[in-house]
Amino acid sequence: MDSILVTGNGPLNGDIPIAGAKNACLTLMPATLLSDEPLTLTNAPRLSDIKTMTALLQSLGAEVSSLQGGQVLAMSSHDLNNLHADYDIVRKMRASILVLGPMLARAGQAVVSLPGGCAIGARPVDLHLKALEAMGADLELRDGYVHAKAPAGGLRGAVIDFPFASVGATENALMAATLAKGTTVIRNAAREPEIVDLAECLRAMGAQIEGEGSSEITIQGVDRLGGATHRVVTDRIELGTYMLAPAICGGEVTCLGGKLSLVEAFVEKLDAAGLSVEETEKGLKVARRGDRVKAVDVVTEPFPGFPTDLQAQMMALLCTAEGVSNLEEKIFENRFMHAPELTRMGAKIEVHGGTARVTGVDRLKGAPVMATDLRASVSLILAGLAAEGETVVSRVYHLDRGYEHVVRKLSAVGAKIERIKGE
Ligand code: EPU
Repeated sequence: MDSILVTGNGPLNGDIPIAGAKNACLTLMPATLLSDEPLTLTNAPRLSDIKTMTALLQSLGAEVSSLQGGQVLAMSSHDLNNLHADYDIVRKMRASILVLGPMLARAGQAVVSLPGGCAIGARPVDLHLKALEAMGADLELRDGYVHAKAPAGGLRGAVIDFPFASVGATENALMAATLAKGTTVIRNAAREPEIVDLAECLRAMGAQIEGEGSSEITIQGVDRLGGATHRVVTDRIELGTYMLAPAICGGEVTCLGGKLSLVEAFVEKLDAAGLSVEETEKGLKVARRGDRVKAVDVVTEPFPGFPTDLQAQMMALLCTAEGVSNLEEKIFENRFMHAPELTRMGAKIEVHGGTARVTGVDRLKGAPVMATDLRASVSLILAGLAAEGETVVSRVYHLDRGYEHVVRKLSAVGAKIERIKGE
């Protein structure tokens, strides 16, 4: 298994290009299942999760070609010849459940493996299933699979009122509703930019959707969807991650393609911590205002709140802030696994349930650490960039799921970082 060696090396300066959003791409790809005409995605990120979704769609009979080094995905689902999403692929990635709504809407039936829990929490899919049931689907859970059937005339529009604004459940319901008979209203819908991106793509395919980006989305079902070419929105989590690099190390970095509207709640906290963030034509320019950042309290919330996917990286910054910060994780019940690893690097962190109390120290010290999930892995790299000495982050396959060319991007702004090939 490969690992990453980071040596603390002072300020970072220059530009970092930000890729298309993993979590947008992972919901845009299953949208191909809704139509027999081609769907092409541009600005796709080059990640192992995208390869997993490619394999899943191909297993269902879709054609997926990766062009221009992976930045363009040309897909066609004219021949859906298998309606069974197998456990062997689904277990690798929870986003696989996003094929359920589209398959059911287009083909009237689907069998999809339940994804199971994951390192950051139990993560059930009950809200996805309830939404499809509200549209008339008959669902049966058998042998670890959801066996789903639409009523004879196809899915029916419905009012879906989510008790929690789940990103994935909103995406599944939105995709299914595009081909349902009549009107669907999704209440307490997730408002993430990835949902807006999905709605824009579906609209380009011929769907009738209003209200995306607000808590209520209304979809008027149509008989069929056509093809489209769609550019994947910028990855706000990769953006926020690299904005933290100059915050932690000093210097001035511009994250190319970054926009304030994608990261407002995060930027408010950076401002309070003593960082300057400026939107320019190229992207977001970040620098530290003083020598040392100040402690801030953070509570993760659904968009437009502070994203859970930036909590681990923010913790890496706050480890060396002046004062005591409290980070409260409200989305996932087990998302502090980076805390003991950061502690190995000299951080002072106490975790009590869903809250981590971080007392800033002057400097972290390099150490061998282990990545436990995607965002934890990059938080350890960020911490290592400013630590004294060498940090070796093992289990970097987590990182490859969500960050393309990390070594290249950080080296280009002056970081000392290299990938060490394992056996
Ligand atoms: N939940 C339920 N039942 C459901 C669905 C969700 O109880 O049917 C709970 C989950 O267990 C969790 C909370 O609701 O505690 C939030 O889950 P949500 O459905 O909003 O998240 P998701 O769709 O599973 C996406 C991202 C995550 C990101 C979350 C929150 C994708 C592929 N994944 O997951 O991304 O953390 O939204 O913003 O879009 C990552 O990229 O590192 C990552 C984990």
